[in-house]
Amino acid sequence: MVEVKERDSGESRYGGGRGNIVRVTSIPTNSDTRANTQPWSPSLKARLYGLTRPVDELLLRAAYSARFYHWSRANAAAPTLPTRFDLYQYVIDHHGLGGTIDYLEFGVYHGESLRWWAAHNSDPASRFYGFDVFTGLPDAWVGLPPGTFSTGGQVPAFDDPRVALEIGLFQDTLGDFVARQPLDRRIVIHLDADLYSSTLYVLTTLAPRLRPGDVILFDELGSAYGVTHEFRALEDFAASYRFHYRLLAGTRRYLQAAIEVIE
Ligand SMILES: C[S@@+](CC[C@H](N)C(=O)[O-])C[C@H]1O[C@@H](n2cnc3c(N)ncnc32)[C@H](O)[C@@H]1O
Repeated sequence: MVEVKERDSGESRYGGGRGNIVRVTSIPTNSDTRANTQPWSPSLKARLYGLTRPVDELLLRAAYSARFYHWSRANAAAPTLPTRFDLYQYVIDHHGLGGTIDYLEFGVYHGESLRWWAAHNSDPASRFYGFDVFTGLPDAWVGLPPGTFSTGGQVPAFDDPRVALEIGLFQDTLGDFVARQPLDRRIVIHLDADLYSSTLYVLTTLAPRLRPGDVILFDELGSAYGVTHEFRALEDFAASYRFHYRLLAGTRRYLQAAIEVIE
């Protein structure tokens, strides 16, 4: 539809002088005529895209596995440790994480890794914050239903006064947390929430607080499942936030990995 403006050559009924009023006339175009007479039909290309929907996850996995392969080769110089606890100890010993830190863990479950960190960093000024909804993964993950890793709402107990829990979805708790906590010490972020959405949300929300030297741990980066979730979140975050980091160390095939913010 196009609109044509015409000068009115007669007296205006709104009291204006000659030639002051503009009349707007709508003229249907060819495309309007088509739209009115033909129902919308998807192009052949759109139909083909529709056919790929059942294999979306496989296509995504193929794309991010290829990217992960190149990422691994580019980072091959970083040391690999046998277990995730060896990796944690390595970054404590070699990257100064035994001192005062703000440790933020996303995905606490029964508290195994949060308890480990509180036990292995004895600095009285360190703080350990655990974030979890405790009703399990909010979305399906690699064939497992929403609610996987639920504790049935049971919250693990910690006898260390430096530990505090933020209970709820990250999407509901992290914004307020960031607004009220100064987070002025070295930050260690431990991402163990499995999902792309949860991981990307945390990275983007904490992005303004990250400084060189901060460390981010991934718990499920390089597995066949992790490449479309935690690794994909890291890739997408790094690309869109122009985030620069270096790999400090990992476990075998970088199932777990520790990166350091460099700028
Ligand atoms: C694999 S478990 C964590 C395991 C734990 N770090 C350990 O080492 O024992 C994943 C946890 O992430 C939590 N989670 C995932 N996405 C979340 C979200 N958006 N908000 C809150 N919790 C989430 C789930 O509730 C679940 O407890």
